[in-house]
Amino acid sequence: MSLELHNISAKYQNSEKMALENVSFFLEKGKKLGIVGESGSGKSTLTKILTGFLPYNDGKVQLENRVIQARVKDRKWIGKKMQLVFQTSLSSLNPRQTVQQILEEPLINFFSLSTEERKQKIVAILKEVNLQISVLEKKSISLSGGQAQRVCIARALLANPEILICDEPVTSLDMTTQIKIIQLLQKIVKEQQLSLIFISHDISLVQELCDEILVLREGKIIDRFAANDWKNAERHSYTKELIESTEILIQRGETGSALL
Ligand SMILES: Nc1ncnc2c1ncn2[C@@H]1O[C@H](COP(=O)(O)OP(=O)(O)O)[C@@H](O)[C@H]1O
Ligand SMILES: [Mg+2]
Repeated sequence: MSLELHNISAKYQNSEKMALENVSFFLEKGKKLGIVGESGSGKSTLTKILTGFLPYNDGKVQLENRVIQARVKDRKWIGKKMQLVFQTSLSSLNPRQTVQQILEEPLINFFSLSTEERKQKIVAILKEVNLQISVLEKKSISLSGGQAQRVCIARALLANPEILICDEPVTSLDMTTQIKIIQLLQKIVKEQQLSLIFISHDISLVQELCDEILVLREGKIIDRFAANDWKNAERHSYTKELIESTEILIQRGETGSALL
C-alpha cells in the first residue's frame, strides 16, 4: 500500500491564507515518515486531508491506486487502510460511550463478525496495548490520559489498517506516560509492519521513530532528509532552529526522546 501526495494546496473557506502549499511526498509500504513543524505550520491540516475530512484546492492525493477526496464514501474506504491517532485522545472519544462500545465501532463498521468474534478481538487488542479487561466497562471520560491514548491506539488497530497516522500523539501526556506510549507505538509498528506517519513539533522524537523527515513551515515543505542524517550541517537554517529548540527541551527534560 503506498500513499502519494502530488502538489497539494489547501485553504480553509473562512481564510485568505493557504494552509498548505504544494505539498508532495511518497510513503512506501512499511516506511516511517516523520513530519515536523511548529504550531500552525499545517500538520493537522495535512492529516484532515489524508483522512478525507478536508477538501484540497489543488493537487492529488492517491492511496493505493485510488485518488482520494473529502467524500463520505472515500472516508470509509480510507478508514479501512489508514487510521489516525490524535493528540487530544480524550476529546476524540465519545464521553457517553464505554470503552467496550468505542472498541466495537471499527469492528462493526469494517467487518462482519459475531459478538463472540468481536469480543475475542477486543480482548486480544487490550493485551496488545497493555490495558486491563476491566477498562471495558468504563466511560471514556473516567480514563487517565495514558489510558485514553491506549484506547485510541487500540481503536485504530482494530480497523486492521496498513498505515497509521499519529498527530502529536504524546504532546498532552506527562513524560513517563509519553515514553510508554512511544514505546508501545514502536512495538506495534514493528510487529504489524505498519507504515507510519508520525507528526510532531519535536524533531528529536520524530528522528527516533522515522526513516525520513519532512519539515513543514507555514504550509510548505522546506526541508526533507533521512532521519539518521538530521544533524547534518547542510540542513535548512529553519531545521537547525528546530534542532536547537529540541536541545532545549532535552536539557529541561521536556521530551521523552532522550530517554527512549
Ligand atoms: N478550521 C480552521 N479554519 C480556519 N483556519 C484554520 C482552521 N484550522 C487550522 N487553521 C489554520 O491553518 C493553519 C495550519 O493549522 P494546523 O494544520 O492546525 O497546524 P498545526 O497542526 O501544525 O499546529 C494555521 O494558520 C491555522 O490557524
Ligand atoms: Mg496540529
